[in-house]
Amino acid sequence: MLIDTYGRVATDLRVSLTDRCNLRCTYCMPEEGLQWLAKPDLLTDDEIVRMVRIAVTELGVKDVRFTGGEPLIRPGLVGIVERCAALEPRPKLSLTTNGLGLQRTAQALRAAGLDRVNVSLDTLRPEVFRTLTRRDRHHDVIAGLDAARAAGLDPIKVNTVLMRGTNDDEAPELLQWALDHSYELRFIEQMPLDAQHGWQRDGMVTADEILTALRSRFDLAPEGETVRGSAPAERWLVNGGPGRVGVIASVTRPFCRACDRTRLTADGQVRNCLFAREESDLRTALRSDAGDAEIAELWKAAMWGKKAGSGLDDPAFLQPERPMSAIGG
Ligand code: GTP
Ligand code: 5AD
Ligand code: SF4
Repeated sequence: MLIDTYGRVATDLRVSLTDRCNLRCTYCMPEEGLQWLAKPDLLTDDEIVRMVRIAVTELGVKDVRFTGGEPLIRPGLVGIVERCAALEPRPKLSLTTNGLGLQRTAQALRAAGLDRVNVSLDTLRPEVFRTLTRRDRHHDVIAGLDAARAAGLDPIKVNTVLMRGTNDDEAPELLQWALDHSYELRFIEQMPLDAQHGWQRDGMVTADEILTALRSRFDLAPEGETVRGSAPAERWLVNGGPGRVGVIASVTRPFCRACDRTRLTADGQVRNCLFAREESDLRTALRSDAGDAEIAELWKAAMWGKKAGSGLDDPAFLQPERPMSAIGG
């Protein structure tokens, strides 16, 4: 079991498969991209599957989410999903993607055992998409969402970050579109995890602002704490349901007390928190002749050091060195 000193148990593993991405969202990374991890530093497909196996069979992990950068650009993704789906006990498998290429791979991913997908989409306007992501690929994301639906991935969640002066006027439109397509839309408060270290609290569109904008067009009823469990999103029933909308307010309404997450970076470091400033190197053990039990012990020790919260409200808060795109969100 992955327990920390506050009694929280991590049962949800997020595995970053690559730090690279084919978009350049302005709130995430610069136009020129970043200093990518070198190939020999990345865990191989076999090493990833081994780590997931240890997490599932020795450490009580039940949910496994593949993230990036952009996980669809990892060549071995379908095979990794297939091998993880064959583990006993079988973990629930999900993917967080920007949607580019999902049109091509949704069917194969579903057949390999992927259960569900979260797709990032910040705008319904192709020209705003181009400004925000620096790539003219809006139609690819929409096609990817359609393909995910056709493949039977369910539920399909859509993640939206609102940026002041760019897409912050789109919240009600986005929600109406999501309701029409039966996607579960979640608005995410922008977090200080950008590679450029340009985040400013005043610039962030807050959960309260988003809810006020939505309430001008929709009736929202809170779903309540019991339903939320350890999920980062607070959810509201829209116009009496069944449609829902979520807000992931990591900055103004942190949910660290209920956190059930552990993370593995593409280069084999365990992070006990999205905002952790320390990582635990498990790759060295993996590449020595350490057995599964030894690796499991190192993972437990990594989680034991988990802090109470993100430290965002601490005046001395320091952003982690690794940007969001290399952590996997
Ligand atoms: P579900 O299981 O579908 O609810 O997934 P999720 O919302 O946890 O995952 P997703 O990858 O879609 O992430 C959505 C947003 O939540 C991203 O901005 C993540 O960075 C953020 N997020 C995920 N886990 C954590 C966490 O432990 N702490 C914080 N603060 N944010 C998180
Ligand atoms: N703050 C909040 N969300 C972010 N994302 C990327 N960078 C940030 C940030 N700094 C979002 C992406 C994607 C999800 C995984 O995280 O837009 O939807
Ligand atoms: Fe890529 Fe996601 Fe960063 Fe956008 S937010 S550049 S999709 S990793």
